[in-house]
Formats: sequence, C-alpha cells, structure tokens
Amino acid sequence: MIYIKQLAQHEGQTVQLSGWNAQKRDSKGLVFMTFRDGTGFCQAVIDLNVVGEESFEAAKRLPQESSLSITGKVVKDERQIGGFEIQVTSLQVIAEATEYPITPKEHGVDFLMDNRHLWLRSRRQWAIMRVRNRIIFAIHEFFQSRGFVQMDAPIFTGNACEGTTNLFETDYYGEPAYLSQSGQLYGEAMAMAQGLIYTFGPTFRAEKSKTRRHLSEFWMIEPEMAFYDLKMDMDLIEDFVRSVVTKVLDECADELKALERETSYLEKVREPFIRMKYEDAVSIIKGEKEVNGRTSLVMLAEEQQKLVDEKLATENEIAEREAKIKSGELKKGEINFNQSKIDKLKAQLTDIAERQQAVEQWIHSANTFERGNDFGGGDETVLTKMFGQPVMVYNWPQAVKAFYMKEDETDKGYAKGVDLLAPEGYGEVVGGGERETDIERLKSKIIEHELPMSAFEWYLDLRKFGNVPHSGFGLGLERLVAWICGLQHIRETIPFPRSYGRLLP
Ligand code: 4AD
Ligand code: MG
Repeated sequence: MIYIKQLAQHEGQTVQLSGWNAQKRDSKGLVFMTFRDGTGFCQAVIDLNVVGEESFEAAKRLPQESSLSITGKVVKDERQIGGFEIQVTSLQVIAEATEYPITPKEHGVDFLMDNRHLWLRSRRQWAIMRVRNRIIFAIHEFFQSRGFVQMDAPIFTGNACEGTTNLFETDYYGEPAYLSQSGQLYGEAMAMAQGLIYTFGPTFRAEKSKTRRHLSEFWMIEPEMAFYDLKMDMDLIEDFVRSVVTKVLDECADELKALERETSYLEKVREPFIRMKYEDAVSIIKGEKEVNGRTSLVMLAEEQQKLVDEKLATENEIAEREAKIKSGELKKGEINFNQSKIDKLKAQLTDIAERQQAVEQWIHSANTFERGNDFGGGDETVLTKMFGQPVMVYNWPQAVKAFYMKEDETDKGYAKGVDLLAPEGYGEVVGGGERETDIERLKSKIIEHELPMSAFEWYLDLRKFGNVPHSGFGLGLERLVAWICGLQHIRETIPFPRSYGRLLP
C-alpha cells in the first residue's frame, strides 16, 4: 500500500491505496470518485468494462465517506485534483457509510461546527490543518536552531498574568486555581535558568463574546530571553514571523492554492516590518498624519467609493441576467446557468453590504478614537491598511498594558511593550515587550492592578536573585494560522475550537 502523497514516484505503475470516497459522480459506465486517504486527494476512475459489473455497481452505490481500497494504474493528469488519476482495476469496500450529513451543497457555519468531527475531512479543513502543522514545525525549527530550550509552563496556576477579567477559575483540591492565560511569568523564571527559552502550550481566556479573533482555548508560543531589551525583542519577533511565514509560502503552495489564498500580502513579510510608537500610530489612525501622501480618512473614503461602485456593477449584472431570463428567448440550460450566476451575485451583494458596514465602523473609530486608549480590532485594521504589511507598534501608555511591562525611562508614562499587527484586517498576532526589573515598581503595579501579592512572591524573587534586563513575547498560533490561510474566522484554525457557547464536539 502507498499514499496519495507518493503518487508522483509511482507514475505508470499499478498501486494500492486505502481511503475514503469524498465525492463521486457517474456517467455511462464510468464512476469518477474524488478519493482521499488523509495524505491528499486524487481522482479515481472506475470503468465498468475494466472492473466488471459487480464492482462497478458497488462503486456506483457507494455512499459518500465510505471507506475502501482501490488498486489501479497511476496516470499523470494536471487537470485533476492532486495532479494524478487512478485508473482503477479492482476495488474493495471496507465499510459502507450511512447517509453523510455534509454533502457537496452549501451548509451553514453552525451546522458545520456541530459536525466539526466530520467537517475536518473536507479538503479546505484538511489544507488548513496541514498549514497549521507546518507552522508548528517551523516555530520549533526557528527556536531550536537558535539555541532556545523549550520548557513547559503549568496550566493550573495561582497567578493572573493578563488581568483578572477573563480568568477561568477551577477547583484545585478545594482551593481556587486558574487555567493559565499565559506562560510568561514562568517563562521569566525559566529564562533565568536557561537564558533563552520558549513555551508552547494551551492558554485559556474567558472571552464572553463571539468574535472572529477570540477563542477560549488557544495555543501560545512564548519565548523569553535574558539580557534582551525591547529593540532586540522586536528584531526577534520580525525574524521569527518572517521565517515561519516564508517556510509556509515555500512549502505549502498546494495547500494555499486549495484555500484560494492570494499571497501578495504574505510575500511582504520578506521586506522590513514597519515599526512605530503608539503615539504615531494614533496620529495615523485618527487621520492627523499622512502615509504615502494620504490620510486614513482619505483611504477609507476611497474604500467606501470602491464598494459603492462594486455594488452598482453587481446590481446591474443581476438586472441584465434577470431581463435575459424574462425575455423568454433562452433555452432551459441557459436559464439555469443565468439563475445560478444571479444567486452567486446576490450572495456577493450581501458580502458587499457587510464590507460597507465594516468600513463605516472603521471611519467611526478613526473619528472617535481617544488618544491613550488601547486599540480595538477596527483601529488595528485602519492602521495596517495604510501599509499593507506587518506593523509593530511599541511604547504603549502604561495604563493599557499589563503590570509586568517596563516603563521607558526616557519616555515616562509609556511601557516598553510591542504588538505586531498583521495586515488584511488580521490585527494583533504578537504581544510582548521588555519586563519591569525594578522590584518596588513591580510591587506597586501589583497593588495598582489589585492582584494578590502572595501569589507573586516567587515572581518577585526573580528580581532579588541576579536581576537582569529581559524580554519576551507571545504569538497566538491560531491568529497566525488565520492570517496565513486567509480565513474569515478563527474557529477554522484549530481542530476542535473552544469559544463562548461551544463545548461540543
Ligand atoms: O497580548 P497577549 O495577551 O500577551 C500575553 O499573554 C503575554 N503574556 C505574552 C508574552 O509576552 N509572553 O497575548 C499574546 C497573543 C496575542 O497577540 C494574540 O495573538 C493571542 O495571544 N491571543 C489570542 N488568540 C486567540 N484567542 C484569544 N482569546 C487570544 N488572546 C490573545
Ligand atoms: Mg495583547
């Protein structure tokens, strides 16, 4: 037995494959099956004259997602899915499936999410998981090749690292404990033992709203580096993200193609990232400062106009096709063809309306953003739209950042924190910065943030015994997968997403 992934090495040979019937159609003594085996997809052609009546009828009847083995000749065919076709000489059904809920027709997202355990088999979901896997491998390659040691932070914890509003509390032998929001504080301790470390584990945040960027359970990669300042931290973030994205671009071309990912924005990671201070970013968002000769408000007005034009063109095409159908001059096939085009165009109109709403929101946030506030998703989108490439924003007002961030001595009131914002509306994918080393300032921040001092005694020890400047960051794996794959929603980036209101499957 071989796998679809190896077909190129077996061109012209007869091979055996085991897998599933993803989809099929038949016509005049032939069954065309989209066959999948986990490693890929290919077309299997079952010819009545070759396999005989009994096998042919079995194939013709075979329900979607039944499992089977096929034997046949490997023929190169660029037009087919996967680039190869199997001309089947014999087949053996392993298990006939009962009626499969996910048919080739369109399904609503809620339905697909309820069937996530099956939805994972679809070609799109398959491609996303392959990209996710390559990203994970690239992350380890990057850090391991630079001498970082992977160390694991605990998941049960007594410390709130990222504020107390979104903690998941559990019962730990009768004591309250939290599911970790971030491994960072432990990462700092481990970096003092090993110099350069990274953690890679699940993190938990009770996000009591449904957004396309938030999960309740997500995977975070958190390097922590002794003797690194903010500048070195930003250099590492840039090298890291560039390395991971280019590996995927270079090695997952087939998957990205299956996802119909337009990669021009991703290619931009090869260029230096934009870096700017928070205050400058705010000026750009609010339209007070130009980028390449235009302000955010001009850019947004252009965007609005483009959508108005697009809407008009779409409405006109619908009207033309409807008139053609009404004219009574079309054949039945032509009517069907035009009707299906009209349906697609109508779906486009809904999409345009949604995009128009989004632009209106961005304009609203550009006009009303108050200096000193944290960025919302809309603000991040406006800023990155001005550049079309990754943007690092650093030196944030201390008030909007976590207790552990170091104050910039030369820029009082600002924390040496950095966020990396991805273009195309994906927004924050990395958050990090230089850590406060002054024990007294840390203590007063812990009090200010109303955190229990007793839970942080061990953390303060790190400032007593060989205190050194150090920095780190956290990359949200699913945010990165969503951006690289070009997904509308974060729920498709992880095999079994956990988010507000969803625990099954
Ligand atoms: O910006 P955050 O909150 O930073 C930290 O947790 C730091 N302790 C990291 C560090 O310096 N070691 O989270 C880091 C990243 C975000 O940039 C985002 O990519 C992701 O984690 N993230 C989420 N991803 C999915 N769902 C959520 N609810 C997320 N919250 C944060
Ligand atoms: Mg953040």
